[in-house]
Amino acid sequence: MDKDKLQEGTIKSLMNTKVIGRDLLCLNTIDSTNTECKRRAMQGAVEGFTVISDEQTGGRGRLGRSFLSPKGKGLYFSCILKPSGPIEDIVNLTAWVAVAACDAVEKTCGVRPQIKWTNDLILGGKKLAGILTEMEIEAEDASVRYVIPGIGINCSHGPSDFPGELSDIATSLLMETGQSVDRNALAANLAEALDSMLEGFPQKLPQYLEKYRKDCCTIGREVKLIRADGTTEEGYAVDIDEDFRLLVRTASGEIQSVNSGEVSVRGICGYL
Ligand code: BTN
Repeated sequence: MDKDKLQEGTIKSLMNTKVIGRDLLCLNTIDSTNTECKRRAMQGAVEGFTVISDEQTGGRGRLGRSFLSPKGKGLYFSCILKPSGPIEDIVNLTAWVAVAACDAVEKTCGVRPQIKWTNDLILGGKKLAGILTEMEIEAEDASVRYVIPGIGINCSHGPSDFPGELSDIATSLLMETGQSVDRNALAANLAEALDSMLEGFPQKLPQYLEKYRKDCCTIGREVKLIRADGTTEEGYAVDIDEDFRLLVRTASGEIQSVNSGEVSVRGICGYL
């Protein structure tokens, strides 16, 4: 048997979860694991329903970007969450997911990525993984019907797998550690990390916030705020507040709390 092939049975045998992956779909190919979760959620899939795919033909990223998802090279993982609690907390779940994804990579590969605010995972100064969190809100009472976090982790890509400008900013676990990755174990560890995150949500906010601040490589760097209207402002990232907003000291000395728009951080490769 091909040890690197993603297998539902193998993943299930490696994981011990209460909610995440209790219904698990492991596919060879799909347009997007997030889109598949959305389709399943609309058909009434249970909380924890998880889709993992060996390839995505239409992998989606934040801000309408695409996410490169070649066959056999990455882990493309999405699940359906139905968290209770105030929407102000639920919108921050994506930061919790970033911490859980760092936990899973560390447990599987022995290296802990950093987090580029808000939720790119970084290893060796380059992007290792991305997270796209989508949610559906009930029209009647504005409650959250479901949340779908989708995590894409570059596992066994080589330099030639990243075309064009991606070659400067992206990396994989193989490229950084020199070791091949057991994607079944990574999937199982990610399911477990998300499961304990869900169990701790939202009461374990202090613990997740502390880990996020420790992992966040944006703090302590010069950043450029790029606003939706195209205007930019430079500043220095001083901290993350209790809502996972980035606190930026600008030239006037004023501290701005940033929760929307895009922040790029100057430094290595122009990416961090
Ligand atoms: C980003 O970097 O902008 C976010 C990328 C998120 C990619 C993952 S892969 C699994 C899930 N399915 C998708 O289509 N997107 C997410």
